[in-house]
Amino acid sequence: MNKRSYNIAVLPGDGTGPEVVREGIKVMNAAASRFGFSLNYQTYDFGGDRYLRTGETLPDSAVEEFRKFHSIFLGAIGHPDVKPGILEVGILLKSRFTLDQYINLRPVKLYPGVAIPLKDKKPEDIDFVVIRENTGGIYTGVGGAVQVGTPHEIATQVMVYSRAVVDRCMRYAYEYTRKRNRRKILTLVHKCNVLTYAGDLWVRSHKEMGDAEYPDVKQDYNHVDACNMWIVKSPEFYDVIVTENLFGDIITDLGAIIQGGLGIAAGGNINPEGVSMFEPMGGSAPKYKDKNVINPLAAICAGGMMLETIGENEAAQAIDKSVSDLLASGKIKSLAAGQMGMNTSEVGDAVAKNV
Ligand code: IPM
Ligand code: MN
Repeated sequence: MNKRSYNIAVLPGDGTGPEVVREGIKVMNAAASRFGFSLNYQTYDFGGDRYLRTGETLPDSAVEEFRKFHSIFLGAIGHPDVKPGILEVGILLKSRFTLDQYINLRPVKLYPGVAIPLKDKKPEDIDFVVIRENTGGIYTGVGGAVQVGTPHEIATQVMVYSRAVVDRCMRYAYEYTRKRNRRKILTLVHKCNVLTYAGDLWVRSHKEMGDAEYPDVKQDYNHVDACNMWIVKSPEFYDVIVTENLFGDIITDLGAIIQGGLGIAAGGNINPEGVSMFEPMGGSAPKYKDKNVINPLAAICAGGMMLETIGENEAAQAIDKSVSDLLASGKIKSLAAGQMGMNTSEVGDAVAKNV
C-alpha cells in the first residue's frame, strides 16, 4: 500500500508568521511520522515584503497553482509599511473568494491551565464552534459611493446573499453539528428583527433544512447583539453557531478572547469540495518578529485542524491532546508573547515531543 502523502502550500507571510509556521510544521511532521503519512511543503513568499518589492499581492497564477495542493497553511499577513487593507484584500480575501473557501471554521475551546477574562468558567463550559459564512454578505464588496468628499456623500455596502450560498453554508453547519455529536444544537445568529430580508433568508434556510433533513439536530436562534452577551455570560449554552460573514467576524474575536486570546485561536477557511486554508487568527505582530517569543500554539492548532480536514483524524487528535496536556502542565506561564516562560521553539518542541 502506498504511504499517504499530502502536498501543502505554505505562506509564512509577514512579521512573526514565519516563526509560528515553522513550529506548526514541526508539530505536523511529528504527527505525520507517528501516524504513518508524509507531508510535502512548498513555500511561497507572498506578503508585505514581496508587495513592497514587486507590487504583487497574490497573483492569479499563484492562486491557480494552489488548486493542486491538498491544503494551504498560512502564517500571518500584515506589514507596518503597507497601508491596511491591501494585503488583507489582496491575499486573504482573494484566496477565500477565488478558491471559494465559503466556510470559516472557528473552534472556541478553553484548554486547561489557560487564564481568561471570564471568572468561574472552566474548560467544560467553553467548547463550541462558530461556522462563519466566509465569502458572501458585506464582504462581497457590492455597493459604492457617490459625491465622495462632499457633505452629500452617500456610501453603501450591501449584505448580499443568495439562497444557494446560505444553504451550502447551512448544510455544512448541520452536517458538522451532527458529526460533532455533542449536544447537537445548531444556533443561528443573525439580526432578523432588523435585517428583515437578509435575516429572513437565513431563518428559513435554518428551519426548512433542519426540519426536513436534520430532525436529530436541535435548532436555536440568537440575535447577534444578544449572542455577544451570552458568549460572555453563558458560553456553555453553545454547541455550534452558524452565522453570516460580518457577524461571524465579530463574534469570533469575542470567542478568541474567552479561550485565552490570539495566542491560541486557530481558524480554517474551508472549501469542503476544494482547497482550504488554515491559519492562526492572530496578526503578524511586527514588534515581536525574529525574537523567538511569539506564541506558536494557534498555528500549531491550525495545523491540527488542517490534518483533520484532510482526513488524518488521529494525528489531529494527538496534536490537540499534546497542546492540552502542555497547557494543563502549567509549564507555559501565559499565552502572551514574551511572557510564556518558554520561547517559541521550545513550545513547538514540547508539543511535537508528545504528539
Ligand atoms: C479574519 C480577519 C479578516 C476578516 C480581515 C483581515 C480581512 O479579521 O479572518 O477574521 O475580516 O475576515
Ligand atoms: Mn476577524
